[in-house]
Amino acid sequence: PKVFYTQPDGQVRVVDGAVGDSVMSTAVKNGVNGIVGQCGGTLSCATCHVYLEPGEMEYFADPSEDEDEMLDCTASDREDNSRLSCQLTLSDGVDLHVTIPDEQV
Ligand code: FES
Repeated sequence: PKVFYTQPDGQVRVVDGAVGDSVMSTAVKNGVNGIVGQCGGTLSCATCHVYLEPGEMEYFADPSEDEDEMLDCTASDREDNSRLSCQLTLSDGVDLHVTIPDEQV
């Protein structure tokens, strides 16, 4: 599956991801700017914050309580489509579009 990462300035980077990887780890492995993933995906930072394309929210379960709490600690404003990208796992045949916020720390 492909992940389309849109930077705050509008530049888009498309990365071929692997099923089972997260949107966060896919970004880190491929050197996509703006997704830090400081805690390695254990829901103890909020440096993997992304805005998920609203139409793609339905591919995922609602945020867990832990994710919901961490989403209140993001450096950039939380929006309705805010997610922590370490919780967004790639599935076969499902391309995803995320926008990276201005600030992560
Ligand atoms: Fe730390 Fe996602 S990488 S919460």
